[in-house]
Amino acid sequence: MAEAPDGLTHLHSGKVRELFRTEDGRLVMLATDRISAFDYVLDSEIPDKGRVLTAMSVWWFGQLGSIVPNHLVSTDDAVLPEQWRGRALVVAALQMVPVEAVARGYLTGSGFAEYRASGAVCGIELPAGLEDGSRLAQPIFTPATKAERGAHDENISYDRLAATIGASTAARIKDLTLAAYARAAELALQRGIILADTKLEFGRTDAEELVLGDEVLTPDSSRFWPADDYRPGRAQPSFDKQFVRDWLVSPESGWDRRSGAQPPPLPERIVAATRARYIEAYERLTGLRFSDWPG
Ligand SMILES: Nc1ncnc2c1ncn2[C@@H]1O[C@H](COP(=O)(O)OP(=O)(O)OP(=O)(O)O)[C@@H](O)[C@H]1O
Ligand SMILES: [Mg+2]
Repeated sequence: MAEAPDGLTHLHSGKVRELFRTEDGRLVMLATDRISAFDYVLDSEIPDKGRVLTAMSVWWFGQLGSIVPNHLVSTDDAVLPEQWRGRALVVAALQMVPVEAVARGYLTGSGFAEYRASGAVCGIELPAGLEDGSRLAQPIFTPATKAERGAHDENISYDRLAATIGASTAARIKDLTLAAYARAAELALQRGIILADTKLEFGRTDAEELVLGDEVLTPDSSRFWPADDYRPGRAQPSFDKQFVRDWLVSPESGWDRRSGAQPPPLPERIVAATRARYIEAYERLTGLRFSDWPG
């Protein structure tokens, strides 16, 4: 990470984001153009990805505003350097609740793996015979611990969550997460996109109010599937990353997923196609034009 701009202190580097503190104690979240696939941060960046995800997150915060308040303070503050326009947010510093609040309407990923091993996810028993990608009769709340860097998050039961963060906070986070998922999944489906699952993070303000933090309902925190290609019983194509994944596992890349080696840089056409996909996701979901977003 390059030196922090005047007035900002660098706090944290994530896989694709950078976190700073302002002099008056607020935070700045900067979305870079980095992309991860198969748990690797790739050497290639996707131009505008950070702006697209920021635009999407801001739009969703607005859509969910009647369900849950959020940490967003400003998209356009004097503390933000010009070159960060459209991809940095000023947010309130929260006391984060240490849980990944996940809602799933479809069974895949770690949820499907756990189901295959035990017939349940986070202690929730599911009917027999579900496949990878099956739609659940009812969306479920499947909390996970926030893993240290490099490790995988661990799914936990609701009872264990309640024991860790308190029964009333757990109940409130579960209700808010399922309500936000239901609203977002309904909106996405109207635009031909399945929201398979999503991960939210919550925190407390100085006034002890529980609010949504982090980013919300971006392809980095959620699984988006094109509804017209949906076919349970296999891995579903990803709305945003499929070109990247397909190319990485193709003979052309020369990369062996099991080798433990860093994947090679992406060819220009894969970068361009993936950039177009992110913009398409934003424009389809929101009905807005990405060219109208600042930056
Ligand atoms: N309003 C907020 N106040 C305080 N911390 C926040 C707020 N919103 C988000 N966070 C925290 O800021 C951090 C952002 O880090 P980021 O998501 O970039 O990386 P990470 O979570 O360490 O790893 P990964 O790249 O896998 O997500 C997270 O720990 C998140 O919980
Ligand atoms: Mg994170």
